[in-house]
Amino acid sequence: MNHEQLVAKTKAYNLGSWAAQAAWQPISIARGQGAIFWDADGRRYLDWSSQAFNVNIGHGHPHVIAAIQRQAATLCSASPGLAHAPRARLGELLAEITPPHMRKSFFTLGGAEAVENALKIARLYTGRQKILSRYRAYHGATFAAMSAGGDPRRLANEPGVPWIVHIHDPYAYRSPLYRGRTPEEGDQALVDQIAETIEFEGPDQIAGILLEGYSGANGAIQGGETFWRGVQTLCHRYGILLIVDEVLSGFGRTGRWFGIDHYPGLRPDILALAKGLTSGYAPLGAVVVSDAIATFFEDHTLWAGLTLHAHPLSCAAAIATIEVYRQEGLIERAALMGEALAAGLADLARRHACVGEARGVGLHHVLELVRDRETREPLSPFHRPLSPAMAAIAAALRGAGLYTVVRWNYLFSAPPLVITESQLAEGLDILDRVLGGG
Ligand SMILES: Cc1ncc(COP(=O)(O)O)c(C=O)c1O
Repeated sequence: MNHEQLVAKTKAYNLGSWAAQAAWQPISIARGQGAIFWDADGRRYLDWSSQAFNVNIGHGHPHVIAAIQRQAATLCSASPGLAHAPRARLGELLAEITPPHMRKSFFTLGGAEAVENALKIARLYTGRQKILSRYRAYHGATFAAMSAGGDPRRLANEPGVPWIVHIHDPYAYRSPLYRGRTPEEGDQALVDQIAETIEFEGPDQIAGILLEGYSGANGAIQGGETFWRGVQTLCHRYGILLIVDEVLSGFGRTGRWFGIDHYPGLRPDILALAKGLTSGYAPLGAVVVSDAIATFFEDHTLWAGLTLHAHPLSCAAAIATIEVYRQEGLIERAALMGEALAAGLADLARRHACVGEARGVGLHHVLELVRDRETREPLSPFHRPLSPAMAAIAAALRGAGLYTVVRWNYLFSAPPLVITESQLAEGLDILDRVLGGG
């Protein structure tokens, strides 16, 4: 089937996500290698957002493919209550790369389920109900995860679960809390406001604060040391768990194993993982818990389970993926290439008036596009379809063979960690041409 036939048949028999179906115009994908993929007509695309922040080790990695094939020939299916080699080894590997006080994992099929189970575990462990989470965050599309994300995608399913309380964001570029303040002062004002929210909501009713380890699809709106240390202090003060969603920011995306590794000494109680865990080669998520939580569940039932829990093929894919990160030094490479990407984007920001702010770290960056640098009016409004100007940019990038995530006035740069220097230069050059006289 050529591209056109493939798209027609896909649309005839599939529902696409997050779209009115008539407007859904997918590109096709037939194969991939490293940071490049090709459509069904052989047209080449530079993968500038890793199939949505996912395929960190790049397409077509032979080590992971072979591991999946070997596992398929050995054992494809296991009841969730059984012990098997891939789940045992993967748990051990995660204990090695996550903070030292976290040693046990619960495996799911993806990021949303990891978040769901992280929230269940927090509520079971603390005996409290409420979860605080940010407005500008995305935690997945299942009900509690969707409610926890403050991203407007949740609105279609409102009212969601009733025990989520949203807090504001460390958005130095736009938040009124930061106006007239340095980013550090703004972070402190926000932490003070969160403390007030905790008091109003009843500290003894709050199980956890859920934060992305590094802000992802909502625009790399991260906050600094003051924000993170402040939240940690509040958690300690009130006995609230710090639940960190590393689904997008984990596995090298930010140039460290995890987003929180940018804040040495931070002590999360629960981590949610997915995406880069297998680089999308097989569906898998994980909840990693502190030793204290693991001990609690020694004699309390863990009310959680899934038929496909710790799926052997997915666990084998994850083991091989982690081996690739280690053997090829991809985490360090992401940090290094990230410096080149940040410098290139900063240069674009200097030369193109339509770039209001370039921000991010490692291989996770966003350009925030504006109509006017002084007023900071977004080039496309928040929570609305793309404006004609932004839609034209998205179409031009696609036409130039660069595939990336464009939403609202955000243009993401998050290529696979294996991207080469010349591919990075190619991507920056396409952005430069497309942003044009702007
Ligand atoms: C930070 C974060 N958490 C959770 C999820 C949900 O993961 P999944 O789509 O695998 O359910 C996503 C997906 O984009 C994410 O970015």
